[in-house]
Amino acid sequence: MVQPIDTMTLRNAINGRYSVRAYAPEKIDKSTLRALLVAAVRAPTAMHTEPWQFVIVQDTNALRRLSDRVKATLATDATHLHPDRNSSDIFSQSDFNVFYDAGTLVIIYAKAAGHFVQADCWLAAENLMLSAHAMGLGTCVIGSAATALNMLAVKQEFGIPPEAIAVAPIIVGKPRGEAVPSVRKEPQVVAWW
Ligand SMILES: Cc1cc2nc3c(=O)[nH]c(=O)nc-3n(C[C@H](O)[C@H](O)[C@H](O)COP(=O)(O)O)c2cc1C
Repeated sequence: MVQPIDTMTLRNAINGRYSVRAYAPEKIDKSTLRALLVAAVRAPTAMHTEPWQFVIVQDTNALRRLSDRVKATLATDATHLHPDRNSSDIFSQSDFNVFYDAGTLVIIYAKAAGHFVQADCWLAAENLMLSAHAMGLGTCVIGSAATALNMLAVKQEFGIPPEAIAVAPIIVGKPRGEAVPSVRKEPQVVAWW
């Protein structure tokens, strides 16, 4: 069950979030998605431009098609981001879904190119992911999907304006099983005057 967004302390949301790569089949509902988007757009925004736009994909066939398209682009692009890439070439496996069978993909697009639009979209992304975690949901950024999402043919297929720039593709859903947050190095201060 999705819990209210204000059940968790900010500290626990920040420390407890991790990238979820296994999902239960159910899709998240409209009101939950709306709460996540409302949290996303509370992010700071350079010159108050609010450059973000959202595309939601919940159709299973569309997600599968998109995953296949991503894998096809990655076959010719070595700058992918999956952590297991070196151990096994999972992108060439036909049954591998780059969205890990999550029921929902939220893509944060910048309306058009501009100063700081990417920064604004990433700040919105973190708001969304922390809020989802606070509600008992899992998320994972799928950066490897960005190249495919920025192709004109893909934009046309999903009715996205050609000038929009896909910045942050994020899968969202109910986690299947549990995992622990990954560790971080201590913050490195290189100068403190
Ligand atoms: C910009 C960006 C792109 C990412 N792309 C992918 C991706 O394509 N596939 C994936 O499984 N994880 C992806 N991740 C998730 C990272 O692998 C993950 O955040 C990192 O390993 C730290 O783990 P944590 O999020 O559990 O703390 C991405 C994260 C970021 C910030």
